[in-house]
Amino acid sequence: MLTSDGRSPAPAFGPALRDLFQLEAGGAHLNHGSYGATPKAVLAAQRDWRDRMEAEPSRFFEREYRPAIRAAAARLAPYLGADADDVAMVENATQAVNAVLRSFPFEPGDRILINTQTYGAVRNTARYVAARTGAEVVEWRLPFPVADAQEIEAAFHAALDPPPRLALLDHVTSGTALKLPLARLVALAKAAGARVLVDGAHAPGMTEIDLRRIGADWYTGNCHKWMFAAKGCAFLWAATQQDLHPTVISHGFEGGFHAEFDYVGTRDGSAQHSLPAGIDFMEGFGFQAIQGHNHAMALAAGARLAAAWGTETGAPAALTGSMTTVRLPYGVGADLNGAIRLRARLLDEDGIQIRLNPLAGGLWVRVSTQIYNHMDEIDRLAEAVLAKRPNA
Ligand SMILES: Cc1ncc(COP(=O)(O)O)c(C=O)c1O
Repeated sequence: MLTSDGRSPAPAFGPALRDLFQLEAGGAHLNHGSYGATPKAVLAAQRDWRDRMEAEPSRFFEREYRPAIRAAAARLAPYLGADADDVAMVENATQAVNAVLRSFPFEPGDRILINTQTYGAVRNTARYVAARTGAEVVEWRLPFPVADAQEIEAAFHAALDPPPRLALLDHVTSGTALKLPLARLVALAKAAGARVLVDGAHAPGMTEIDLRRIGADWYTGNCHKWMFAAKGCAFLWAATQQDLHPTVISHGFEGGFHAEFDYVGTRDGSAQHSLPAGIDFMEGFGFQAIQGHNHAMALAAGARLAAAWGTETGAPAALTGSMTTVRLPYGVGADLNGAIRLRARLLDEDGIQIRLNPLAGGLWVRVSTQIYNHMDEIDRLAEAVLAKRPNA
């Protein structure tokens, strides 16, 4: 049966869609957030780009490579509320954060504001830059578990006195999976006179991004997590492009934003070149439909796990995207070593892939919900954890 616009109706979300991915059979893949999972159709498109590159390497690099990067940026821009000219393609969010922080003219005594949930690689980059410029890394405590956005806004507001030179904000935090009230936080930072770099590693494909409304100076996001791109596909959007350089200086040095970022030496750009196939895949189901489904499933998964374990979730619905966090029951571990051991056991003994983090005095699971997941996998996780209590 066809829909009124003549297309086949989208198949129901759930395990039937696993066939569209290369995920191995049998496992409960509840960790889409860490590295994504790329659809077979996108991997095929990526292979086509590689074949094209190898068929005539000189022509490809001299004539086709850069236009294909621009085409990917143009296809992505509407999903960012951005002008494609302000979008550069990079390999990952870490690279983009490095580009911004290592280009920025920090001076001794400048404050770089991060938070207790800033991603480890991003935190290290801030530390590296501070050590070389005499700037200081200052950390504010992002509340967790958290009741509402106001709690976060109040904590951030207090951290802006004295004002930082640059504030680093997440759109969606990594370990705690909080979808932050970004536009509000950026407005507060801007009012304090700070420049703002947003680490939106998880946001593309998971939530709306409207860069004109958000008002940051720089924003990076990964397309290989929730936008179905192949690995090595991310972007850097820059409202401030002057004196901004990629991590690799190449032929385009001092030639402007595109010239510098679009070509950073001979490399395999197929993950970025095939981004339109990832967006095609997403659009085949509908961005809103995927986003709504994944969000609803994250909420249902959180509620089901918290009920099974007699615990709590880390965030209300308004601060939740396509990942939920739930406190583990007493007795299955409390610190980082416990998290490493339990995570390995869940994978090796039960075939369940999740993330575990020591937070707020206990262990918390982060569960990702993507279109190929099913609530049966959530029940499987609930039972597997309960079975690992010492006297179970
Ligand atoms: C908040 C956050 N920032 C940055 C990154 C780094 O992403 P990548 O390894 O693709 O650079 C991650 C990865 O999970 C993340 O969660």
